[in-house]
Amino acid sequence: MAKVTTMEELFLDEIRDLYDAERQLIKALPEMAEAASSDELRNVFEEHFEQTVNQVKRLEHIFQVLDEKPTGKKCAAMTALIKEGNDMVNAIDETAVRDAGLIAAAQKVEHYEISGYGSARAHAELLGDNRAVRLIEETLFEEKEADEKLNDLAISLINEEAADGSNGAAGPVGPKTRAAGGASRDEP
Ligand SMILES: [Fe+2]
Repeated sequence: MAKVTTMEELFLDEIRDLYDAERQLIKALPEMAEAASSDELRNVFEEHFEQTVNQVKRLEHIFQVLDEKPTGKKCAAMTALIKEGNDMVNAIDETAVRDAGLIAAAQKVEHYEISGYGSARAHAELLGDNRAVRLIEETLFEEKEADEKLNDLAISLINEEAADGSNGAAGPVGPKTRAAGGASRDEP
C-alpha cells in the first residue's frame, strides 16, 4: 500500500478498497445464488447482486467527483471471505445445511462491508464531503437491509431445516447439531 499521510488519502484508500470488494462480490453473488437451495435465499442473493451493481456506480461517482481513478487497490479481506465461503459450500452436500453455511458466509461479507462503509462515511463527514456521505449512506442502508434479511432467513427457515436434517446424523445420543449459529440480531 502506498504511503498515506492525510485523511484525504486515507478516505481515497478506503473507497478504493470498497470498490475492489464490491467488484469481487459482483462475481461471487451469482455463484452463491446458484449454490442456494432455498428460493428465498436465492432471491436475497439475486436482489443483492442488483444492489451491488448500483453500489459500484455510487463509488464510481465518488471517484469522479474526487477526480481520481478507482483502480490500484486489491481488497485482500474480501478475497479471503469469498474463498472461505466457497470452500465451505464445496464441503457441504446436505442442501439445508449448505444454505445455513451460505447465510453465515454472506453475513460475514455484509458485516465487513458495513464496517468499511461506516468508517468511510465518518471520514467523508470529517472531510466535509457531503455528497460522498450521502452516497455512502445509501449503500450502507442497503447493506444493513441485506444483513437483516439474511438474519431473518437464518432464524426462521434455514436454521430450523438444518437442525432437523442433522438430528438423524447426530445419532441417538448425539447432541442436537446447530447450524449457522452465528446469526445474531445485533448490529455493529
Ligand atoms: Fe455492497
